[in-house]
Amino acid sequence: MSDQADPLPYGRQSINDDDIAAVVEVLRSDFLTTGPLVDRFENALSDYTGAGRAVAVSSGTAALHAAYFAAGLRRGDEIITSPMTFAATANAALYLGATVRFVDIEPDTGNIDPDLIEDAITDRTRLIVPVDYAGHPADYDRINRIAADHDLKVVADAAHSLGATYRGRRCGTLAHATATSFHPVKPLTTAEGGAVLTDDADLADRAGRFRTHGIVKGTRTDEHEGPWWCEMHELGFNYRLSDVHCALGLSQLRRLDGFVARRREIADIYNRAFAGIDGYQLPVVREGVEPGWHLYALRVTDPGRRRPLVESLHEAGIGVQVHYVPVHYHPYYRKLGFQRGAYPVAEDFYDRVLSLPMFPAMTDDDVRRVTDACVSLVCRS
Ligand SMILES: Cc1ncc(COP(=O)(O)O)c(C=O)c1O
Repeated sequence: MSDQADPLPYGRQSINDDDIAAVVEVLRSDFLTTGPLVDRFENALSDYTGAGRAVAVSSGTAALHAAYFAAGLRRGDEIITSPMTFAATANAALYLGATVRFVDIEPDTGNIDPDLIEDAITDRTRLIVPVDYAGHPADYDRINRIAADHDLKVVADAAHSLGATYRGRRCGTLAHATATSFHPVKPLTTAEGGAVLTDDADLADRAGRFRTHGIVKGTRTDEHEGPWWCEMHELGFNYRLSDVHCALGLSQLRRLDGFVARRREIADIYNRAFAGIDGYQLPVVREGVEPGWHLYALRVTDPGRRRPLVESLHEAGIGVQVHYVPVHYHPYYRKLGFQRGAYPVAEDFYDRVLSLPMFPAMTDDDVRRVTDACVSLVCRS
């Protein structure tokens, strides 16, 4: 196998003939956008996760925006979340005129540190938003208890963790509402897409209206003027997920357990290869957690080695990535007043982390190519 001829990305979708046939079939049907497959996909997501309701939307970002709105976040409110995430987790609060209070992370899981949450709660806090970093669920028992004590809601950012479990329960059921993503590198894909999962029927109804301009069919006033009548009561968006996307999602959802099983095998091979290698720190798995391994986030013990390692791996055609540039490092957030140095654990985590290739179609040879390169590079440096 030639390293140069065969670059390995850090993540990649798995599309098979069944996925393709499902999409082709819907292209030949009467419905391209909202048709019967939206309900079917939502019901299948509910069945899979155990969440009472699922609302399919056009991206994970739209899912966060809709979930925050439906959970009651408004101008002047605050959310508490982790800086070790994709900017969308925080951005979706800003869309609603709310502000973000970051709380530092646990040094090992990369998830929000429950010990630090209470100190960040103010009289404006409305939501706590844990992010299941790399597909490892956050400490929901503790986070939900803190939220209950302070009359707050928990909205999980489970963009990484569909298929993961926490104390035997699947992501999608661990918080008041959960937002997930179906971007191609995620546990399953609809190309672009996402969903809000919840047991709260009112919240699901509000999220459903939000995805379609805030318009309701029929009337809630006494102004019904005919069968065409509809009313817009809230300012919503066009966040609909089409039947074409849902056809792909339904087919992918049938394959999700297989995807997660293969990710777990790959993580086992990585763990065995790096155990005891000086210079690397392995990802941890907390008791009671079965991670989905969206990412395999390896850390170097010496932060000075991270950049040369990433560059050497790229030269070898191995597409490692860094998750994440902490949200408060982004110039936009700096302009809002956030400063480097404010969240030292997340910043140290960022300095040392790199995501190795991790996707279900990786062969054992692909995985060995990554482990051989990582072991030889760390031993040489
Ligand atoms: C943690 C996290 N939250 C939210 C998102 C946003 O999802 P999407 O790209 O589907 O809008 C992502 C996507 O990368 C993510 O990783």
